[in-house]
Amino acid sequence: MKVAVLGFGTVGYGVYEMLKNAEGLTPGPVLVRPGKADEAFKVDSIEAIAADDSVDAVAEVMGGVEPAFSYACAVLKAGKHFVTSNKALVAAKGPELAALAKEKGVAFLFSAACGGGVPFLHNMSLAVQSDTIELVGGILNGTTNYMLDAMQRRGLTYADALADAQKLGYAEADPTADVTGLDALRKIMLACAVAFGRMPVEGLNNEGIDSFTAEDAEYLKKKGLTCRLIVSGVPVGENSLSAFVEPVLFEKTAPECSVLDNFNMARYHGKCSGDIVLMGQGAGRWPTASAVLRDLSDIISGRRYMMDPDVKCVCADNSAVLRKYCVRLPKEAKLSLPAEKEEVVGDNKYVYTAEVPVSAMHAEAEKIRKDGAKLFFAAIGQ
Ligand code: HSE
Repeated sequence: MKVAVLGFGTVGYGVYEMLKNAEGLTPGPVLVRPGKADEAFKVDSIEAIAADDSVDAVAEVMGGVEPAFSYACAVLKAGKHFVTSNKALVAAKGPELAALAKEKGVAFLFSAACGGGVPFLHNMSLAVQSDTIELVGGILNGTTNYMLDAMQRRGLTYADALADAQKLGYAEADPTADVTGLDALRKIMLACAVAFGRMPVEGLNNEGIDSFTAEDAEYLKKKGLTCRLIVSGVPVGENSLSAFVEPVLFEKTAPECSVLDNFNMARYHGKCSGDIVLMGQGAGRWPTASAVLRDLSDIISGRRYMMDPDVKCVCADNSAVLRKYCVRLPKEAKLSLPAEKEEVVGDNKYVYTAEVPVSAMHAEAEKIRKDGAKLFFAAIGQ
């Protein structure tokens, strides 16, 4: 199967190189920016790929919704299989692409968009054929895990940890999506779509790590707690689900504390299988390229989709999920949530709340920030 590659950045280069040695696969043309096609295998127009009858499949690794979506439509309409590592694209346009691929009788797979090299969506999309998935979640962003680990274990500042994650090729071109939790949020949207046939498109809550400071790291270390950015998705009733991203604090014995560097720890709970936990590198050239190649090999084996073409777009509801939180805010600021205790450290205080709805904590943080105060919060892990 000849595979064209859209994009020749960190992951694109990895995919192209891996295609040279993969069983049953050969590299085709590589789409680069206009005017940058300076080698024979590079082209700078999508039309050249869509019209090339020798190309059977297309791997998109450019990122962003546009022009990736237009390119995806062009190649699917031309009857080519489509594989992508692009979370933003699948979160925004996945259901449309799944329907178009079905109509054209070709594949649409996106294992690399969630979990990097970890076969999370791949395994789960096989599991749903015979089991009922009751929960998806875990650590799904390599950049923030790398940063939290570097700040807590190695004492790096936030800025140095982010600069390292960028140098190592883990972060998105614009790392805002990583540090604000948006990248992880998109991944939980994809995981829910695969696991439950429902994609949450509204009502989600996300809190990233962009408020986490070296002082927070030091405070939590003294308490014996480790912070990780955790995603969670659970079906609610027939048509809804809870879906959110937030920092969580774990005691030393929790498995999450041993997830270091850019590693991810993806988790699902099957009604029959019980808990399944998958660990591996969640970001970077070769891990992500390996997931793209896995999807391409799956197409040779006859696989056509991992998101049900009839997936429902639903509104998430996080009001029935109760958690206790640790909230750091200026000592004069007021937290309008029931508190169990508080501790003053310098100009700040750490407030420990009683159990409150996830949606209430996120709404309260938004309100306090609107009033101009800086705040960090994390759920207390169970
Ligand atoms: N920026 C992403 C991450 C890349 O750090 O997880 C892999 O999706």
